[in-house]
Amino acid sequence: MLMAPILGALGRVPAPFLLVILLLRLSPGSPRPLDIEGTQAPQKCVLAGVWVNDLGSRMSISGPDAKGAFSGSYLTAVSASSQNPIQASVITGLQHPATAAGGQPTFGFTVHWTFSDSTTVFVGQCFVGADGQETLETSWLLREKVPSHAEDWKATRVGQNTFLRVK
Ligand code: BTN
Repeated sequence: MLMAPILGALGRVPAPFLLVILLLRLSPGSPRPLDIEGTQAPQKCVLAGVWVNDLGSRMSISGPDAKGAFSGSYLTAVSASSQNPIQASVITGLQHPATAAGGQPTFGFTVHWTFSDSTTVFVGQCFVGADGQETLETSWLLREKVPSHAEDWKATRVGQNTFLRVK
């Protein structure tokens, strides 16, 4: 068991040092706490991974880099344009740091649909439940290409999606 020697050693450390160590562990940006097996728990609300929304659409995200930029692919379960079969499409996005005070960062991403002339932008926030479940609450605008300026009025749809992490 890893914990017994650690607890024994901690008993010999003066209390003020223990307090400093505890505060360093809790401060934003510090290394993540060790879980029960002594391994590092995955950072919550870093968007990298696989997510599925309430429509059954699936997105896979890589990154983010040091500036919060991420990329990925989006496989929608539904389409507004019936001409072409659905294909996985490219995601480009930016998220605020998950390590900033309180975590639960906001983010935005664009889906450039490869099987239609449309574009969707999503904005959202990641929330962590008491059970550790990460949920992305998003709102989106879907812009369709219309053949004439006169049809611009009907080109944009708006909606919301909730995503849960599956990987
Ligand atoms: C198109 O129909 O031309 C592209 C696919 C659009 C799919 C939309 S984007 C917003 C909503 N959320 C999804 O997961 N799919 C639909």
